[in-house]
Amino acid sequence: MKRKSVAPIYSMCVQPSFIIGTKNEDGTDNFAPITWVSVTHEEGDGYLLVISMFGSKRTKQNVIRTGIFSANLVSTDMLPLMDYFGSKHAKDGKKNDMEYGVSRGAVLDVPTLDESPWVYECEVARSVKTGDSTTFFCHIKNIQMDERLSPKDTFDIDLTLLDPVIYSGKYHSLGKILGEIGDFHKAD
Ligand SMILES: Cc1cc2nc3c(=O)[nH]c(=O)nc-3n(C[C@H](O)[C@H](O)[C@H](O)COP(=O)(O)O)c2cc1C
Repeated sequence: MKRKSVAPIYSMCVQPSFIIGTKNEDGTDNFAPITWVSVTHEEGDGYLLVISMFGSKRTKQNVIRTGIFSANLVSTDMLPLMDYFGSKHAKDGKKNDMEYGVSRGAVLDVPTLDESPWVYECEVARSVKTGDSTTFFCHIKNIQMDERLSPKDTFDIDLTLLDPVIYSGKYHSLGKILGEIGDFHKAD
């Protein structure tokens, strides 16, 4: 592999796409795409969703104020919705130029998107500020997954079925399943 060194200005990372659902101060719902999303672990069986937002967007303000939100995985058929939510700022008016179905979380009082095949209901545990950005470490209080999935453990999620949008400056879709841990190197 031949590589070249370049200035460290690229934030290229293979990012999953989520639309974050929050409640505005007036009780109405708001949605915005966020792709700076990952997970980490804490004691016990719990995972923490790690999500980062820059600036002073409404979604960030809502998360700071309420401490709760939904993270709705974006499948490729939801691209028009993600593009719409991402191009309109809540401060410029309600995001109601497109039709979409909204429900309430099963555990938390958060708006969820009916079209999403995988929804996290999250509560902020702690946050870290770096410059203009805030990164939230969040307890996952509930997961709503597509009924077609029936994983035997946490490693058994068929992402091709969820058909997620992968973002890295451009929108991509996923390829095919390549195998499982151990399929490519057998331990002695
Ligand atoms: C594909 C995509 C990914 C985005 N990812 C992030 C992100 O990771 N963090 C962030 O702070 N903003 C991100 N944004 C920007 C917000 O979604 C955008 O500013 C949005 O209009 C904010 O809406 P709001 O005013 O309702 O909060 C992204 C936008 C798009 C289109």
